[in-house]
Amino acid sequence: MGDLPGVTSRLKYLKELGVDAVWLSPFYRSPQADAGYDVSDYRDVDPSFGTLTDFDEMLSTAHALGLRIIVDLVPNHTSDEHAWFIEAKAAAPGSAARERYIFRDGKGEDGELPPNNWQSIFGGNAWTRLVEADGSGGQWYLHLFDTKQPDLNWQNPEVRAEMESVIRFWLDRGVDGFRVDVAHGMIKAEGLPDWDGVASMVEGEHSEEEAAKERAMNPPSPFFDQEGVHEIYRAWNKVLKEYEGDRMLVAEAWVEPAERLVRYIRPDEMQQAFNFEFLLAGWDAERMTTAIDNSLAAVEEVGAPSTWVMSNHDTVRHTSRYGLSVPTSFPTGISQSDEQPDEALGLSRGRAAAAIMLALPGSAYIYQGDELGLPEHTTLASEFRQDPAFARTKGAETGRDGCRVPLPWFGQEASYGFSHGSVSPGQPWLPQPESFARYAADLQNGDAASTLELYRDALALRQEHRLGDGAVGWSALHDPAAGVLAFANNGVLVVTNFGDQPVRLPDGLLEELTVKLRSQPTALADTGESTAPACASELAPNSTIWLA
Ligand code: GLC
Repeated sequence: MGDLPGVTSRLKYLKELGVDAVWLSPFYRSPQADAGYDVSDYRDVDPSFGTLTDFDEMLSTAHALGLRIIVDLVPNHTSDEHAWFIEAKAAAPGSAARERYIFRDGKGEDGELPPNNWQSIFGGNAWTRLVEADGSGGQWYLHLFDTKQPDLNWQNPEVRAEMESVIRFWLDRGVDGFRVDVAHGMIKAEGLPDWDGVASMVEGEHSEEEAAKERAMNPPSPFFDQEGVHEIYRAWNKVLKEYEGDRMLVAEAWVEPAERLVRYIRPDEMQQAFNFEFLLAGWDAERMTTAIDNSLAAVEEVGAPSTWVMSNHDTVRHTSRYGLSVPTSFPTGISQSDEQPDEALGLSRGRAAAAIMLALPGSAYIYQGDELGLPEHTTLASEFRQDPAFARTKGAETGRDGCRVPLPWFGQEASYGFSHGSVSPGQPWLPQPESFARYAADLQNGDAASTLELYRDALALRQEHRLGDGAVGWSALHDPAAGVLAFANNGVLVVTNFGDQPVRLPDGLLEELTVKLRSQPTALADTGESTAPACASELAPNSTIWLA
């Protein structure tokens, strides 16, 4: 959390990084019970982030620089402080105001039991009971997430019309697209049947077989990936088409397998969907190969581009996950009492993985600070934790705060040059770990060995070789079982060594092709065993190179 004028002031940095577009997480009016994913007014900027004028200025500055802006749309739920919910609480059961949300009478003699057994994704019950004006217990309302995030009733045409109007409001202002929050959640199964499965936002740490077993054990959830959601996206697709230019929708849908996910990006629905299979693959050549193959095959069926993502505001940063003793593990957060990642190892692997992701065709999504190689804050004290999942599970789930710590702009400044605007001048929203001084952008700028320069080089080469428009051809060197991933895309050969031993490259390869990128300066260096020239053709552990 910073503010919109702060974003405007850093657009040049993003331009120089070499990205095409920026996705902003929610900056709308909100009590901030879930970092802005609890919106109380969809048509205004939260005063702590600025004003609509600040937004317009940010947008026009971005456009002048050739950067597109994608805003977050949160259609599954509003804040309980949204005017609609305040009205609904005061209205009678069965009223039009209550019909905008999912209100039900409770079970039991006095309606004292929740209407069904659904659990909140953040832990605890997914239903909260209203207290009527006379102090008696009233109806219950559904919230798949926090109590302060009541789910909207998408069977109600008024809800559909309102959200379309919100979309138009931002399209009229000039935004280039929307990231659609919980895109798989808006429609609930008829009759809201009980369900004994366990839903989590981020499902990870499983092999293919485990995932299949889980799917078999967990009957499809009655609130995720229901057929009815697709009708909503077909309607939005038409709205976007009314506007000039290339406006787009990207789905945040934790849906698997890839064949189910790509149903969100059929030609008359959304344009892209985040590829969480790639994110969940972890540091593992075989799993990454499978994720790449599955994703490319699935998107081909629908004629949409693939996407690639390794980290976001809901996951432990990949540099830290890859530094755990099991580098495919997927904790929901890391705290002081958990295994602490090997920071240097995680960073090498994170850089090598970035050099894979940025060579793949389609769209790559970078989370703020990835380009600095930032680790997760793994020792954040409980008193600072703000993720509702932490409180709702009484600390059993560490939560997502560790990846949301403000990034360091200047190594020598207070809070490394990132404060929460007018709310706490000079203070960051969450305390930053001391190690962030080492990762500061000003320190990395111009240092050829830095992660920042690696990302800049990779993005410039990605542009130059039009890798986004290319195709993956697995190379003869590709041997995932031996920890080697190798593919060609538009004339660029990408080779990664996932193992902890150097891998010998074919003789003559480096004479034939030029090294375009190394994920670390020592990627092709002497292993220390000898100074003979042959050593130069060994690829160091946890490294990627690009040759052309
Ligand atoms: C999405 C967001 C997450 C938020 C949740 C509820 O998964 O990415 O941050 O907590 O939806 O809106």
